[in-house]
Amino acid sequence: MTSERPRIAIYFASRDGQTRKIVERLAEHLDRRGVGATVTDLAASVSTVIDAEADLVLLASAIRYGFHLPPARRFLAQLRTEVPETRIAVVSVNLTARKPGRQTAEGNVYLRNWLKRTGLRPALAAAVAGRLDYPAYRWFDRTMIQAIMTLTGGPTDPTTVVEYTDWAEVEALSEELAKLVKARL
Ligand SMILES: Cc1cc2nc3c(=O)[nH]c(=O)nc-3n(C[C@H](O)[C@H](O)[C@H](O)COP(=O)(O)O)c2cc1C
Repeated sequence: MTSERPRIAIYFASRDGQTRKIVERLAEHLDRRGVGATVTDLAASVSTVIDAEADLVLLASAIRYGFHLPPARRFLAQLRTEVPETRIAVVSVNLTARKPGRQTAEGNVYLRNWLKRTGLRPALAAAVAGRLDYPAYRWFDRTMIQAIMTLTGGPTDPTTVVEYTDWAEVEALSEELAKLVKARL
């Protein structure tokens, strides 16, 4: 942790690509802020070697039917045995985060439950809104998500495609991450 350029190792689990897009954007912003970032897809291999020497390890995962994707949940269990939680950050990508006040560990139900269930107290936890793409979903998924949207006041028109991700929030998040690792040098 004494190198001049701090480093964040980012690991992500994504099904439809939005979480990948978000972490790639984060990595670009971090690079511009003088922080090196590596990005690893957890679905690419059965076991992942953790860069435990990084100044911070960021785990980002999409939500499906109330849960973070299995590769992310498995990875977190491994991560906790190798890296102290003061050097762990988590980002949850879901549609609930499209609403005001739902981007924090307190305000976002998935993030809150994840931290509660695991007892993890990471250095940073945030929720970022993902993407809604009805035409891309199978009938079952589309019907389920339409039902959720009916309950939560979102769009139900099956032709709707909306990228809810707030890219300014993603940039602000990169600034917070950069501050975290720079403070430790
Ligand atoms: C089958 C399915 C189930 C989902 N379940 C939830 C959910 O329970 N809560 C929620 O907020 N978002 C839910 N979403 C929205 C996803 O979290 C959102 O589309 C996100 O952008 C997906 O990330 P990915 O593109 O990286 O896979 C669901 C999406 C799909 C396709």
